[in-house]
Amino acid sequence: MWEDWRMSNEITRFHTGAPEGLEKRFAQRASMMQPSEIRSLFAVASRPENGQEALQYGSGQGHPKLREQICDVMALEGIRAHPDDVIVTTGSQQALDLISRIFIDPGDVVLAEAPSYVGALGTFHQYEASVVHVEIDQDGLIPDRLREAIASLRTQGRRIKFIYLIPNYQNPAGVTLSADRRTEILAICREEKIFVVEDNPYGLLGFEKPSPNAMRAEDSENVIYLGSFSKTIAPGFRVGWTLVPQALKEKLVIAAESSILCPSNFSQLAISSYLADQPWRDQIASFCNLYRERRDAMLESLELYFPKGATWTKPDGGFYVWVTLPPEIDTKAMVPDAIAAKVAYVPGTAFYADGLGSWSMRLSYCYPTPERIRDGIKALGGVVTREMTRRQLL
Ligand SMILES: Cc1ncc(COP(=O)(O)O)c(C=O)c1O
Repeated sequence: MWEDWRMSNEITRFHTGAPEGLEKRFAQRASMMQPSEIRSLFAVASRPENGQEALQYGSGQGHPKLREQICDVMALEGIRAHPDDVIVTTGSQQALDLISRIFIDPGDVVLAEAPSYVGALGTFHQYEASVVHVEIDQDGLIPDRLREAIASLRTQGRRIKFIYLIPNYQNPAGVTLSADRRTEILAICREEKIFVVEDNPYGLLGFEKPSPNAMRAEDSENVIYLGSFSKTIAPGFRVGWTLVPQALKEKLVIAAESSILCPSNFSQLAISSYLADQPWRDQIASFCNLYRERRDAMLESLELYFPKGATWTKPDGGFYVWVTLPPEIDTKAMVPDAIAAKVAYVPGTAFYADGLGSWSMRLSYCYPTPERIRDGIKALGGVVTREMTRRQLL
């Protein structure tokens, strides 16, 4: 099965050239990004001597062997990619920064799920984007809400640069975008000339069944895909990647080189040997078993200890449950009480660019044992119950 994937992944690559009008979609600063003379030298000079190589500078685009292995990893989610289109990054967080640098001029609009990943929102803000959230439900982003948001922004004459999506086991909401909606959203974005940034660090962490195919598997020209080994191997290596449409590759490599010269060879080679020599898919399966047990402990405890009026998502994978309380409850103001009860959560407002989410919270079950999760949810349920009683909501 694995070999079949590998073989089907040995694809021929055709250069399609840049789409018409692409230059105008970049940020103004992107016109200053020019290729480096030294890059081609590294492509020629790369040698297969691991020890010394690990301590040296490497290719700005990332180690060639690791880029091949990354294509094999992405094949598990239906993506047929060529290693030449992969850029290794210092975690997927760096890819978010590079994409923002290339596309965002002050005031440009970035669309994002409501709620969305706090680290991405922070990056978009630093580049002075205006983030516009689009509503989600248990099946992920709602295509009709996306159409409405685009139409309204276009009427206001706003420039939409890309939509940022976390289709699998979303951070923070824990929901997964359904296969049908993926296709529909891709069609809308192609039609509207809006790039899709698909951030997928959790895709292989499905508990019940594999996640739907990646959006990038369906559209290689309009989807910028972000991957990471942080959630499947270890975040300390800081190894992620982006798989970009060919037309964007040059700009991204230049931006990457100018920020870090090259990703850490040491980390890349450690990950590469692990992928080559260790049963990493079995390891991910055992992580999934562990996280499933923790997710179950959290959902059961929420049922037992949280008061009526609270609702929460039921993730099929990943790390997070999103809890919604009655609108009168301010989860940020409640944090000190929770800490006093020896439990912590992230208040919902962190995951919105516009101050919404004040009656929501993100709970994470990936780290504590089931026993500690039960104790923590019991304590938090007590805090929420007291707050709701105080406000005469119970
Ligand atoms: C959705 C999402 N994207 C990106 C990241 C950053 O990951 P990395 O460690 O690869 O930089 C995270 C980390 O929590 C995340 O949840």
